[in-house]
Amino acid sequence: KKDTIILGIETSCDETAASVVKNGREIMSNVVASQIESHKRFGGVVPEIASRHHVEQITLVLEKAITEAGVTWKDIDAIAVTEGPGLVGALLVGVNAAKALAFAKKKPLVGVHHIAGHIYANRLAHEFEFPMLALIVSGGHTELVLMKEHGDYELIGETRDDAAGEAYDKVARMLKLPYPGGPQIDRLAAEGEESINFPRAWLEADSYDFSFSGLKSAVINKIHNAKQRELTLNAEDIAASFQASVVEVLTEKTYRAAKEYNVNQVIVAGGVAANTGLRKSLEKRFSDEDFPLYIPPIQLCTDNAAMIAAAGTILFEKGHRSTLDLNANPSLLL
Ligand code: KG4
Ligand code: ZN
Repeated sequence: KKDTIILGIETSCDETAASVVKNGREIMSNVVASQIESHKRFGGVVPEIASRHHVEQITLVLEKAITEAGVTWKDIDAIAVTEGPGLVGALLVGVNAAKALAFAKKKPLVGVHHIAGHIYANRLAHEFEFPMLALIVSGGHTELVLMKEHGDYELIGETRDDAAGEAYDKVARMLKLPYPGGPQIDRLAAEGEESINFPRAWLEADSYDFSFSGLKSAVINKIHNAKQRELTLNAEDIAASFQASVVEVLTEKTYRAAKEYNVNQVIVAGGVAANTGLRKSLEKRFSDEDFPLYIPPIQLCTDNAAMIAAAGTILFEKGHRSTLDLNANPSLLL
């Protein structure tokens, strides 16, 4: 059987990315232009600035992805692009580039859900075995998803308020750490002690949902109280204690779900999957159990286009095609 070669495009937030992937598993090129430096001084992603950067970068990034893969347009079977969720102006840049190329080069177009992409980042490292449980932890999502086959997603739990990455970024902001806060807190936490007992939001006994806003408020209160009473609080300890609360709940709920659904594989996806505390805790919890745990390499956890090409390959092979009417959908459902 002939190889399937897919060009992936991702512009949903603050990375302009393009990648060529063979057979949904083999990265031929993976180009990511990060805008983090431009957003840092605002303490978060500014949508208008993100869109403009995508417009400036997209052509260069696409050319680089194709050159580095050593392919020509003749070799590419289809173009996969993130259609949502994300920032609408940012998404539109990728979607319009993909549509223009699909039209000009006469290639099939496949719209991809950003979270499906995060899940399929794992398939660039190892093959899937179903039923499979995916813990998705990113800046916008915290979800437990059960997959019985390719492209089939059953939501069994989700956050009721903040996403895990959002909580990291907000706490980092309170500690006056630069954006994005997740890696900063991760770094500080490694140097601190879990000396503060922040709450764990277990919710109802049988629930796989998450909640991080109470924890976030507890951290704010702790910082304010210390300030009022002119106590010095150790940022490392706050980071370590906050991270311990997030990691414990994520680990336990994932473990419980893996057991209840008796899955053959557990995978982790999204930017927070890069967190060293979470990786360690999950690896420990799953180490002597019957549920093999896989966490992708860190560079595949955060936003990239190889994951979009990988998820797009499955859709393409199943016969999914988007028309040239494809539109960005900021609140697309998985
Ligand atoms: O998946 P992603 O790159 O973009 C979204 O789709 O949201 O995730 C970005 C999120 C940010 O909130 C960032 O702070 C968080 O992932 N993040 C981390 C780490 N690296 C990135 N959070 C905790 N620890 C990390 N090492
Ligand atoms: Zn993402």
